[in-house]
Amino acid sequence: MLLRMIKDLVSAAPGREAEAPAPDQRAIEARLEALAGDIEPIQGWLHPDTGKLLYHLARAAPTASIVELGSWRGRSTAWLANSVRDRGEGRVYAVDTWKGTGNEEVHRQMLAGYAEGQLYREFIENLRSRNLLELVEPIRADTVTAAHEWDPARKIGLLFIDADHDYAAVRRDFEYWSPHVAIGGTIVFDDVTTWWGPSRLVSELPKWYNLALVRPNIWVVVKQGE
Ligand SMILES: C[S@@+](CC[C@H](N)C(=O)[O-])C[C@H]1O[C@@H](n2cnc3c(N)ncnc32)[C@H](O)[C@@H]1O
Repeated sequence: MLLRMIKDLVSAAPGREAEAPAPDQRAIEARLEALAGDIEPIQGWLHPDTGKLLYHLARAAPTASIVELGSWRGRSTAWLANSVRDRGEGRVYAVDTWKGTGNEEVHRQMLAGYAEGQLYREFIENLRSRNLLELVEPIRADTVTAAHEWDPARKIGLLFIDADHDYAAVRRDFEYWSPHVAIGGTIVFDDVTTWWGPSRLVSELPKWYNLALVRPNIWVVVKQGE
């Protein structure tokens, strides 16, 4: 199902001859536009087109356990949580220290003067005010600690990696979390090719990760074995 969905996304890419959308497709597009309007006020870096992609991927994921590494104020979390809601099952596990990424100057500037816990409270409020909190389990920890504490019986359908973009950090996130991804599950790497760390990592993935989709700033791979 996931690969068929990805083929549909590719055939809908700009430059392809567009067919008139079927009525249910129109309903999905209207839903996604409404979500884009609702989520846009949450400050973050995720483009709405990437949000829509995450929504589709989370709906089609082989398990409804969705893990996000790096949530910030909840922009991408909100896309994923709405997907889980529309899917009718599952949960988004949002892993973040909510302290910002130490080596990113823009984070340091944006959090200057912040009180302890303030970013986390903003994240919670952004989800609560959109009735999404019940669909999200915040895990307030660094990504490696959270991986150690993850129940290995709970296979992940979609893993979105968007925490520290430093090469060693993103490599660690992949190594600690990818064993928990279900066969047929998806890993989405943000900031390929704009950041060196994730860009280098995707060039080194084991051969049982099949490249499924490339979008501006995003790589999507499907785990085919281990
Ligand atoms: C680029 S932001 C995430 C943006 C978010 N996905 C969005 O769409 O708006 C990166 C986040 O990763 C978190 N982070 C960085 N390093 C981390 C680590 N080692 N463990 C947990 N969270 C981390 C930061 O606190 C920050 O909130």
